[in-house]
Amino acid sequence: MAQGKIKGICMIFFIVPFLFLSGCGRLEDSDTLKARKVLNYHQGKFDNEPVSGKLEGGVRVVEVKAYRFFFEPPKIVVNKGEKIRLVVSAEDVPHGFEIEGFEIPGYNIETVIMPGFPMTIDFIADEKGVWDIICTIYCGFGHSTMKGLFIVK
Ligand code: CUA
Repeated sequence: MAQGKIKGICMIFFIVPFLFLSGCGRLEDSDTLKARKVLNYHQGKFDNEPVSGKLEGGVRVVEVKAYRFFFEPPKIVVNKGEKIRLVVSAEDVPHGFEIEGFEIPGYNIETVIMPGFPMTIDFIADEKGVWDIICTIYCGFGHSTMKGLFIVK
């Protein structure tokens, strides 16, 4: 076999796994990596957090109330692998809801949650981590400080 051919084959074995790995890496954006890092850092701390809401027919239902300028409860804690239903209600003025960096298929983070019209958000808590919850709709002077935590343990 010619030297060049062997070299060529070696290159393929080297390059293909590299492309594959870098392709997978793109699925984890910086928010996801940050969330995982935070969880790893606080591992013990979050293990002892009581789980939020209640199980209804295999779905963990958590009621979240949005006020100017905080969420109640301030921390939503769920177990990895659970089906989650968040029922988010605006208690005073219109608010928005986003778990920053946590992809929820079919949910538009720009949705305006109007008082009297709770928003139901269904998804699976498929990875461990800690994410910030933020309000995505301008709701007054404290809007940018309106935050919560979403913890999957
Ligand atoms: Cu609540 Cu912005």
